[in-house]
Amino acid sequence: MKILEERIKKDGRVLGEDVLKVDNFLNHQVDPQLMQEMGDEFGRLFADEKIDKVLTVESSGIAPAIFAAAALKVPMVFARKKKSITLSAESYIADVYSFTKQETNHVMIDKRFLHEGERVLIIDDFLANGQAVTGLMEIVDAAQAQVVGVGIVIEKTFQKGRAMLDEQGVHVESLARIAAFEDGHVVFAD
Ligand code: G4P
Ligand code: NA
Ligand code: NA
Repeated sequence: MKILEERIKKDGRVLGEDVLKVDNFLNHQVDPQLMQEMGDEFGRLFADEKIDKVLTVESSGIAPAIFAAAALKVPMVFARKKKSITLSAESYIADVYSFTKQETNHVMIDKRFLHEGERVLIIDDFLANGQAVTGLMEIVDAAQAQVVGVGIVIEKTFQKGRAMLDEQGVHVESLARIAAFEDGHVVFAD
């Protein structure tokens, strides 16, 4: 997506080997016009899939997910993160290991908001190692619902997540694909 790539070039900052800071428009301050255009683009990219619900994880997935859900005219549900959990019959829970933070978090969704047979689109801000998406897919499985696609704002193709999802035959669409960081600059795929 051209305007997103332009925005990454203008406002993104490369940190170290493999992190892109985009807190100017996505992860801290949020640009609602850009979010709307991204949501509309997700709507177009997944127009051929019947979708009942958009799923994401708090906190940075929420902004793009809500605009995607608005474009698709379906509800959006975000999984809540918990440091520790007491197992409950009311919630679906998955473990999500963060390579970045080297810690395991739990994500949970109340069973009232995900149902058997529902067709789910997962949206997230970054696809790196794919741990967050994998956790959400486990939850969708546990609910006997179905993942019909994964929409990502910024994919880093050089990390493990994309290849892993492709291997599973998941329909993945990313609005920006980063092939590498070179001397502090972003190199886009294609
Ligand atoms: P994974 O889900 O693809 O495996 O990602 P990983 O564990 O590597 O990343 C952990 C957190 O860091 C996630 O956010 C993820 O979105 C974010 N992240 C991954 N790569 C980048 C990057 O290059 N830039 C930025 N800004 N974030 C990145 P989170 O901990 O769930 O936090 P949040 O959603 O509350 O912001
Ligand atoms: Na995230
Ligand atoms: Na994040």
